[in-house]
Amino acid sequence: MNSRRFAIIGMGYVGLVGAVCLAKMGHRIVGLDIDERKISLLKEGKLPIYEEGLEELFNEVKENLEFTTDFNEAISKTEACFVCVGTPSRRDGKVDLSFVRSASESIGEALKNKSDYYYVVFRSTIPPGTSQHLIIPTIEKLAGKRFGEGFGYAFNPEFLREGTAIYDFFNPPKTVIGTTDKRTADFLLELYSELPEEKIVIPFVESEMVKYVDNTWHALKVDFANEIGYAAKQFGADGRLVMEVFCKDRKLNISPVYLKPGFAFGGSCLPKDVKGLVSLLRDRDIKSPVVENIMPSNFIHIRKARHLIENVVPKGELVVIIGVAFKPGTDDVRETPAVYLARELLDAGYTVKYYDPLVRASHVKAFFGDFIEITDEDFFSSLNEALSQRNLVFTGSFKDVPRREEAYVGKKIFDLYGIFYEDKELRKKIDYYALCW
Ligand SMILES: NC(=O)c1ccc[n+]([C@@H]2O[C@H](COP(=O)([O-])OP(=O)(O)OC[C@H]3O[C@@H](n4cnc5c(N)ncnc54)[C@H](O)[C@@H]3O)[C@@H](O)[C@H]2O)c1
Repeated sequence: MNSRRFAIIGMGYVGLVGAVCLAKMGHRIVGLDIDERKISLLKEGKLPIYEEGLEELFNEVKENLEFTTDFNEAISKTEACFVCVGTPSRRDGKVDLSFVRSASESIGEALKNKSDYYYVVFRSTIPPGTSQHLIIPTIEKLAGKRFGEGFGYAFNPEFLREGTAIYDFFNPPKTVIGTTDKRTADFLLELYSELPEEKIVIPFVESEMVKYVDNTWHALKVDFANEIGYAAKQFGADGRLVMEVFCKDRKLNISPVYLKPGFAFGGSCLPKDVKGLVSLLRDRDIKSPVVENIMPSNFIHIRKARHLIENVVPKGELVVIIGVAFKPGTDDVRETPAVYLARELLDAGYTVKYYDPLVRASHVKAFFGDFIEITDEDFFSSLNEALSQRNLVFTGSFKDVPRREEAYVGKKIFDLYGIFYEDKELRKKIDYYALCW
């Protein structure tokens, strides 16, 4: 991209690094902050923060940088702004959006006087819905312009880590562009065209959610590794070695496997071994809340499925569970979530019947005993008969079902696992319910 003029709003860790890195890419940058002390320091060529390598790079690209506290100046001189204001936690843990709100207001005001199309790009971490319900309406109201007409907008989360921020800016793990405005998407795709890794254009709300998910996952990884490391040591094992070997498995452990939202897990291994480890930890009084809460989380997900059904199916009606085994291609019903869900539905006052060509009531009885009332009469012998009922729950362990709208007319379809996830057109035409999409 040829040299362009951009404003960076918020001269903190993210904004200042972004300003210097975009200047290094050859662009002319106006850095803005409401903190006059920061702006005075920057004008004197001094950095208000320490970040590895930043001072050297700042000095190298100084002539491409200018600083101001004036939004009108910053926006009149540029064709896009990148907003990097803070979104700290309030005392109650809620996200403080006051800086986002006031920056949006200032941008809106300044855009009143701008005749050219202007790109507003938020890089601050913001809760799902903030772009659509706070930032865009605020700018539209104050600028007197419509999104996609007078100005473009994207949420473009920043993935850099302090300490390696400059390297991370030029080597992001991915580039996410949350927008429905093609012009803004094209502008950012061109700006970032030299950066490595995938560029992904998605709607606002998913892009906002992604950033929270990434950081929560990183935090979960740290705590999981620490819990396992500490537990390993109590058993006389080297926790570092255990996790090193764990990470060598790129098929099941460090991979997208098991990371598709859908229904609860079950089967002969996962529940047994999670419960086993929890009991070993409890015997030694080792506190491991991440590991201890895996089974409760799994159960809560089954209860959410019950609530999904309860919300739309009147009590007393028949609900048919299609797929009873814990996964496809097996008759194994050990710890199958289908039976836990059936028990929830029976408790809620529904009649429950089943379809699974590989499973008989005796299989369920053998594992679950008195946990559930079930006989062979509760199983439909043909798929067509099962599908002719009104309320159909697909658990994912039986997938060989029709993908035609006619098969589901007048029925409520609960797709817990996502067997219809890819059939986006079909989903729109039927009375379709899911937990995670
Ligand atoms: N720090 C990180 O490693 C990191 C990484 C990725 C994303 N983020 C996200 O980026 C955002 C910024 O983080 P940070 O660490 O740079 O924050 P920071 O607190 O260091 O900087 C924020 C800056 O914004 C300024 N500011 C506040 N309101 C303003 C306004 N209305 N107009 C102009 N400037 C304003 C503040 O004075 C401050 O200088 C946050 O949402 C954060 O979650 C941070």
